[in-house]
Amino acid sequence: MVDEGLRKVAVIFLGPPGAGKGTQAKLIAGHYTVPHISTGDILRDNVARGTELGVKAKAVMERGELVSDELVCDMVSWRLRQPDADHGFVLDGFPRTAAQAGWLDAFLEHEFFDNSHCTVGLPIVIQIEVDYNQLLRRLTGRRTCPAGHIYNIYLHPPRVDEVCDVDGLKLVIRNDDREEVIRERLAAYELQTKPVADYYWEKRRLIAVNGDLPVPEVTAQICRVIEQLHGAVEARNVSDNY
Ligand code: AP5
Repeated sequence: MVDEGLRKVAVIFLGPPGAGKGTQAKLIAGHYTVPHISTGDILRDNVARGTELGVKAKAVMERGELVSDELVCDMVSWRLRQPDADHGFVLDGFPRTAAQAGWLDAFLEHEFFDNSHCTVGLPIVIQIEVDYNQLLRRLTGRRTCPAGHIYNIYLHPPRVDEVCDVDGLKLVIRNDDREEVIRERLAAYELQTKPVADYYWEKRRLIAVNGDLPVPEVTAQICRVIEQLHGAVEARNVSDNY
């Protein structure tokens, strides 16, 4: 049973491609029973279903560039207005430009916090820091299951080659995990997303964790940060199923 106090948590994960945002966001969202909102996952789902948004985003994503702020902010505002986000959320991959960060603060202040059902405070911003060579290994070795479970052939392989341990589905390589696209994504991060970290740093809201450590140890650092900032009780066994 999760303590009521633990539910009211809002977290933003920042970090370069391959830092482990998705891996940690799933664990933290599961533990605190709040929705995991990944703009990358929402966009990939739209691409797979061939929606109007997906058609607009597909070529941009395949080049490793960022989708327009307008499309992504619309998507996030829709998702944050769903009632399950009233008591918290984990944002993964958003905000990713200084414009998105400014938009999010304004949205939360003028719309979200005004909602009388909302019990959540200003999000905690966690920057996952990882060595550059480690990032390349993580991205080139990543395999994902269509249901969202994440593996790595070097660092966290499935028990049976190319098959998800949890649901037996065949693992796939993401379209943008090709070497030439990875370079573009890392360049987009340096140019467009690093200013987001500066934005939160200047507001004294950024907390960095060491993402080079094994998954459970990174999770433990994140839980400590959340507990300290929320004065919540000890988070237990978050990584037990990893
Ligand atoms: P998105 O899906 O957000 O991709 P990303 O930011 O490039 O991040 P990744 O998903 O590649 O990495 P991650 O940090 O989640 O790492 P993971 O946990 O998987 O975005 C994709 C695209 O969508 C963008 O390029 C852009 O076009 C578009 N987009 C999305 N959001 C947007 C926005 N806001 N604005 C505009 N465009 C947007 O882990 C990676 C690997 O490492 C895995 O194999 C994992 O098993 C392994 N691993 C993780 N942690 C550890 C650890 N501690 N030790 C060892 N291995 C680990």
